Amino acid sequence: MISLALSKGRILDETLPLLEAAGVVASENPDTSRKLIIATSRPDVRLIIVRATDVPTYVQYGAADLGVVGGDVLAEFDGSGLYQPLDLKIARCRLMVAVRRGFDYEQAVRSGARLRVATKYLQTAREHFAAKGVHVDLIKLYGSMELAPLTGLADAIVDLVSTGNTLKANNLVAVEEIAAVSSRLVVNQAAYKLKRAAIQPLLDRLKKAVR
Ligand code: ATP
Ligand code: PRP
Repeated sequence: MISLALSKGRILDETLPLLEAAGVVASENPDTSRKLIIATSRPDVRLIIVRATDVPTYVQYGAADLGVVGGDVLAEFDGSGLYQPLDLKIARCRLMVAVRRGFDYEQAVRSGARLRVATKYLQTAREHFAAKGVHVDLIKLYGSMELAPLTGLADAIVDLVSTGNTLKANNLVAVEEIAAVSSRLVVNQAAYKLKRAAIQPLLDRLKKAVR
């Protein structure tokens, strides 16, 4: 049996067509089902539905053999034992620094001011500002980062931007790109060795589907 960990929402929506192209069809719609383990058209492949940030943990411990996870989440994950063979090129967006319209970010950076930055990406943000030599106080949030500069909680945020609609609707502007983000396939290293005969053909078909 091969278990593939997926998160609901956009990763699931964009992964299901890839899986179908690779010959794996979910037996029911995971977005509407309350089931957390979903069978597929392949008796040896099942889907495990977890929170986006939990995918690397399931795969690290081998509770799932494979997983689909955003590069943003992977960059924050400090575990080991994950093999990353394939960029699925889905859920594409950019990790950016954004501020309230009218806030002079460049000037704040130039003047050496200490910035308060709200984000759920503490590790990535810490590395980014350290590399730039900018002093920051990082404030951990779990969602709706856009609210932080509007309420005075922070001067800036580090968050994902795709269409830019959320920033625009909240009178914020992106001032710096940190990284391009897409979702990757991750594989438990031990499973890749032990179940290679089953995993490799699936990997090859997914590779083809991505192309
Ligand atoms: P959780 O439910 O664990 O809090 P989440 O709400 O962040 O996670 P999603 O919004 O489904 O989960 O995001 C999952 C992944 O999709 C992110 O890790 C990121 O890689 C990608 N993603 C998030 N927002 C966007 C976006 N606006 N456009 C494209 N991809 C995105
Ligand atoms: C993500 C991210 C931004 C938004 C950016 O949010 O945290 O808030 O998407 O996308 P945009 O540039 O296209 O507006 P999240 O996934 O929590 O919300 P969503 O699913 O409603 O987009």
